[in-house]
Amino acid sequence: MPRILTGIQPSGTLHIGNYLGAMRPAIDLQEKGNAFYFIADLHALTTVRDPALLRSQVQRVALDFLACGLDPAKACLFVQSDVPAVTELSWILSTVTPMSLLEKCHSYKDKTARGIAADHGLFAYPVLMAADILLYESDLVPVGRDQKQHVEVTRDIAIKMNEQYGGLFKLPTPIIREEVATVPGLDGQKMSKSYKNTIDLFLEEKALLKIIRRMETDSTPVEAPKDPANSSIATLFKHFASERDVAQMEADFRSGGTGYGEFKNRLFEAIWTHFEPMRARRNEMLRDPRYVENVLAAGREKALSVAEKTLQKVRMAVGLQRI
Ligand code: ADP
Ligand code: TRP
Repeated sequence: MPRILTGIQPSGTLHIGNYLGAMRPAIDLQEKGNAFYFIADLHALTTVRDPALLRSQVQRVALDFLACGLDPAKACLFVQSDVPAVTELSWILSTVTPMSLLEKCHSYKDKTARGIAADHGLFAYPVLMAADILLYESDLVPVGRDQKQHVEVTRDIAIKMNEQYGGLFKLPTPIIREEVATVPGLDGQKMSKSYKNTIDLFLEEKALLKIIRRMETDSTPVEAPKDPANSSIATLFKHFASERDVAQMEADFRSGGTGYGEFKNRLFEAIWTHFEPMRARRNEMLRDPRYVENVLAAGREKALSVAEKTLQKVRMAVGLQRI
């Protein structure tokens, strides 16, 4: 069975871009292998500097991931910092990582271009990610398109380690679902919390409707035909509605006579209905305040045992272990 691993940062409220691009693919894959999914709180420290906020977001990501269908009986859910071995491996990997490999990373360049301080943690971020992936000896890494380069960096670092110390690591493969690689946000750009264009998960009914009404549209009049390919409303609708309803919406776009307001109402209905069972599960979990903590504690034990084995192997290979 392949080992499947992914991480999600608790750096804000999860949105439907995260859900479609990262969470749902991971949830689907939990059936297909030995899955390890974690909340990347060490990575989030590069942008979240409020301890209370970090703590509450870790809880919230765990809750939302479980509500969306992560099954702790199938996938091991844990918090990254609960397994300190990852920081030790990260250091060891960094000793063979060329600066030039990190200098070309888009994510670092984009974040610093947006004014985030060029701290060492942000620069070394892909090395910690490589440590996550290699520590759990992952075969498959489901990620959004923006993380593909980081998995490639992981492969390069693993190759360097293997050249230096013998065949220590297997090389991971990124799994990217093309149809959800870039989910559009309210303004048509990639949905991202940094662009403030998100539709967050588990909004109240009124808040969800309000945010969908805020989606930007062009000024084509109601009567005129419209192109569904250019509309984020139609694009998002495809991910949540039945084939028949999608075909109907596309036909109504093309024939004219239906305004964007009506299309937004249909999108709202589709999203609201899609999340109905997840909302119910989430409300149930909220009734047992210890449930999430118990899942994370069990996940921690399992993750620790795998991580310790790999780290021992690496310590031995590089000469840190004094037999
Ligand atoms: P954000 O861009 O809001 O900061 P993150 O960078 O924390 O989101 O992304 C977490 C995960 O969700 C990553 O695997 C990323 O690829 C995926 N993801 C985020 N936004 C989208 C999107 N708009 N479309 C598809 N996947 C996305
Ligand atoms: N960097 C990823 C993101 O922002 C989160 C992450 C951390 C991750 N470590 C990982 C994803 C290891 C996959 C594998 O989305």
